[in-house]
Amino acid sequence: MNIQIPELCLVALIGASSSGKSTFAKQHFKPTEILSSDYFRALLTDDENNLEITREAFELLHHVARKRLLAGKLTVIDATSLQKDARAQILRTAKETDVLTVALVLDIPEETLMERHHARPDREFPVSVIRKHAYQLKNSLRSLEKEGFRQIHVLKPEDLQTLTLERKPLYNNLKHLTGPFDFVGDVHGCFAELRELLIKLGYVVTEDLQAHHPEGRTAVFVGDLVDRGPDSVGVLRLVMNMVKAGTALCVMGNHDEKLKKHLSGKRVQVRHGLEQTAEQLAATSHEFHQEVSRFLEGLISHYVLDQGNLVVAHAGLIERYHGRTSARVREFCLYGETTGESDEEGLPIRLDWAKDYRGKARVIYGHVPVQKAQWVNNTIDLDTGCVFGGKLTALQYPELTLAEVAAHKEYCEPGTKLKNLLNAQQAADHTLRWQDFAREKFIETAVGTVRIHEANNIAALETASRFALDPRWLIFLPPTVSPSHTSERPDLLEHPEDAFRYYQKQGLSQVVCEEKHMGSRAIAVVCRNSDVARTRFGMTTESLGVVYSRTGRAFFNDEQIEKALLERLSAALERAGFWEEFQTNWVCLDGELLPWSFKALSLLKEQYASTGSAATHALQTAVQLLQKHPDATAVLQNAQERLSNLTDYVQAYQNYCQKVDSLEDLKFAPFHLLATEGQVHSDKTHLWHMETLERLSTFDPLLAATPYQVVDLHSEESIQQGIQWWETLTRSGKEGMVVKPMQFVPDRRTQPALKIRGREYLRIIYGPEYTQHLDRLRGRALGAKRERATREFHLGLEALNRFVTHQPLWKIHECILGVLALETEGIDPRL
Ligand code: CTP
Ligand code: MG
Repeated sequence: MNIQIPELCLVALIGASSSGKSTFAKQHFKPTEILSSDYFRALLTDDENNLEITREAFELLHHVARKRLLAGKLTVIDATSLQKDARAQILRTAKETDVLTVALVLDIPEETLMERHHARPDREFPVSVIRKHAYQLKNSLRSLEKEGFRQIHVLKPEDLQTLTLERKPLYNNLKHLTGPFDFVGDVHGCFAELRELLIKLGYVVTEDLQAHHPEGRTAVFVGDLVDRGPDSVGVLRLVMNMVKAGTALCVMGNHDEKLKKHLSGKRVQVRHGLEQTAEQLAATSHEFHQEVSRFLEGLISHYVLDQGNLVVAHAGLIERYHGRTSARVREFCLYGETTGESDEEGLPIRLDWAKDYRGKARVIYGHVPVQKAQWVNNTIDLDTGCVFGGKLTALQYPELTLAEVAAHKEYCEPGTKLKNLLNAQQAADHTLRWQDFAREKFIETAVGTVRIHEANNIAALETASRFALDPRWLIFLPPTVSPSHTSERPDLLEHPEDAFRYYQKQGLSQVVCEEKHMGSRAIAVVCRNSDVARTRFGMTTESLGVVYSRTGRAFFNDEQIEKALLERLSAALERAGFWEEFQTNWVCLDGELLPWSFKALSLLKEQYASTGSAATHALQTAVQLLQKHPDATAVLQNAQERLSNLTDYVQAYQNYCQKVDSLEDLKFAPFHLLATEGQVHSDKTHLWHMETLERLSTFDPLLAATPYQVVDLHSEESIQQGIQWWETLTRSGKEGMVVKPMQFVPDRRTQPALKIRGREYLRIIYGPEYTQHLDRLRGRALGAKRERATREFHLGLEALNRFVTHQPLWKIHECILGVLALETEGIDPRL
């Protein structure tokens, strides 16, 4: 005896005590697939015969069953299941998880049960229980089918000897088919257009309505082959032939379903185009009707293809239903999700499931006519209303290109105007949902997964939602940069040699040293014109772009300055021929806005200058007083030293203070040309970035080039030159430099940049007298900072990659928020 059960189902073993359920289960299922009530009783009370705990044991059992089934795992319930209530719970669990149910009934004669029972040391209850069980089983056998079990197998002792259980893939599981595919939208009897489209796609369509693709491609029809159009019969013939020949797949549409009912003699309303189909079919033979009936009977409501990466269903499908089988899954596939209400024209009001779709599998569907097929959250509606005078559309997979054929005429007047969205993804992105962010995240980047803890994400969400810019502008956030290893040299905390040695050790041969401007980090997204802000970034207000800080906040308090700056930048890029050169209408630049005092004025006033002036005053007075006391030389010397340190400190911050009266006093020094349309320029070297930006900076004095030097790590001479360059820079009051690997994206173990700050600059950071405490400060720990630097770097690039590949806003923003979330973790701010 051979029984076939679906690969994913809930199996109920039904039988009296000692009928052999547990024995059977062990023979045919994996231990982890079997959930036995005894086991859960024991789990809770150490006693598998404890009947008092039955309720809780079953609660737990079904909880586990639900989790397993939701995870797509076949599950077996090993309990007597002789009572209707117990079985009702099993059916509920299956229904909730949209899986099929299989009842395996062990029908064993009462005498055998008794014999076995007496032989068992582990069952103490009286034989009357067995008798009751036998009686209940007889009753159960009568009602199982009515209760709703999908498969019922009654097994007698003799069957058990020879029984084999075979697991069959679900009908919807075509994961092994990897394509290439050509998905075709709703045809609705538009035979001529279908034929034209297939030929356009490279299919050979013969006179006798057979079609195949010479390269072995498979056409996949999203359903609604029939109704409204001029030749549903032709469409049926062609598609049926293709499906039969294995050159096409087809899922069931709501119109196909209705035709099926009509043909099988069920009473359906012959309207919404069925009247045309019925009329066209009337001219065909009875055999053909039967053939059509058989074809329609055999249609499945959805398919999972290509290792689970693709799902096709007529009206689409939410992720939870992929590869499931239940009435409501089928209902969804055919009709989509509706509110249950109707609009003024009597059509059901639909819920926009695609807007909420977050699944990894691409979902290809039709059903709702739209003017053009567009991706929304990894889903695409291919119904471009051919029968309403629109187009017939196909999607080629894996190429993801669209092919279209215009309708030859309007065969049917559309009830409502076809949805016409310029950019459907942007419309869906209009509102971000907190559920997408306020939880633990595993963000996949080009170099691996970055994990963000829930608490950090929530903290980031909290500040971002109050202070950050419109998320649609935030396509990148810069990473933190770690200092080089702490120097061993006397008098210094940071020195370039440590950075060079580090990169040498990482196996690099060249690095680029860039002057570290003392300003404020600024990201500029510059558009060619305000149309671009609207169409590419989804902005509704007139704008040429945006300038924001490293925490995603508006850089300027004054919108007029920002506007003027963006106009200048956009015009400079125009003059430079940049837009043509890069085939783009926008650019994302990462750089530094100078002077520092412009943005940091309050920090300067409240922190540095007040410290500077209070301490100067106090120390000067102390020195004056001490000079009058000949016996206080030691104390005087100390005060003088402190005063000298303080003078250096004041000098250090004054270096970066300039008055800003107008735009002319500002400078933007970009050092990364991050992205343009379709491209993230992380595939170029830092040298390329330096040279390209240097060239652009000649087009407006507002732009500053960043001085740089390439250091060859194989040459000691070159290394020494690099060191000298840093010494010259810092001696002249510059902050220091940043050393970057020549390749923009090093491997994950390697820091994407290291900063080496000058001795005097660090006085601002560590305090006027830090040079006195160098030995203590050398103990600073860099590990966490480095870890963060690489993760933020890769998240930032991932955000850009997602933006240039037109991914949904929530996908881009999860990276942006990820950077902010990593920043919420406390790390020594002086690093
Ligand atoms: N047994 C048997 N022949 C079979 C199956 C089972 O002799 N074909 C014996 C087992 O070895 C065991 C007893 O019958 O000693 C009960 O089998 P078990 O599988 O434990 O029965 P269950 O139906 O699981 O009983 P319960 O409901 O009490 O758990
Ligand atoms: Mg048992």
